[in-house]
Amino acid sequence: MTLEELQKKAASGEKLAILTCYDASFATLCERAGIDALLVGDSLGMVLQGAKDTLGVTMQDMCYHTHCVARGAHTTPIIADLPYGSDRSPEEALRHAHELIAAGADMVKLEGNKTDVVSHLVAYGIPVCGHLGFTPQSVHELGGYKVQGRDPAGARQILKDAAELQLAGVSMLVLEMVPASLARQVTEIIEIPTIGIGAGPDCDGQVLVLQDMLGIYPGKTPRFARNFLSGSMSVQEALTAYVHAVKHHLFPTGEHSF
Ligand code: KIV
Repeated sequence: MTLEELQKKAASGEKLAILTCYDASFATLCERAGIDALLVGDSLGMVLQGAKDTLGVTMQDMCYHTHCVARGAHTTPIIADLPYGSDRSPEEALRHAHELIAAGADMVKLEGNKTDVVSHLVAYGIPVCGHLGFTPQSVHELGGYKVQGRDPAGARQILKDAAELQLAGVSMLVLEMVPASLARQVTEIIEIPTIGIGAGPDCDGQVLVLQDMLGIYPGKTPRFARNFLSGSMSVQEALTAYVHAVKHHLFPTGEHSF
């Protein structure tokens, strides 16, 4: 599947089911389950490396795990995160994006409203996914793991940033931990697919951290995640259940939303 086909799927009204993935074995299982795209997220700092946040993840880590995922998934688009500090300038971001693409990514994701970086990458032919709402690389500035855009000014800022990122050329936009009503508004005003995580049921697609949806992360399971392994006979069945639930609008529901 190409990124263009992914956008067409979303435009036709089909929900996109996306998961984070960091290695070849899970990538193969995800591909078999019909996952629409795999995100090599810098969440690997927490779920694989045991860190308390994503800030210590390096380009070397990202390239290694992107390479592993690309070896296990052959037809599923791969999105890789530009880790903390790797997108400080358009030139640095381009160099790092090239490294991720060389490691097997089809698209790179960056956090926040960095329109100058996005337009530079897009001008060089790199597909970019934006990420707004709670942006983990800014956990300290945001004062912890908090829902964003609850107040009118915060909501207006997210709507404005989303429109600006689309104009700068992002092909997809992750919305993390924002009220469901705000995610719906963003999804209505922009044409590119929105991918929610803790953003309610109205985004064009959903993404979860693999370890959260399997219930195997030792930390607290976020309210917006569901354990799909419980009630399934195998990991493969859990992944298939996730795809089915997203495609049939059975996940997320109000209980997973803010
Ligand atoms: O790093 C990651 O896994 C992410 C998701 C939470 C969207 O950015």
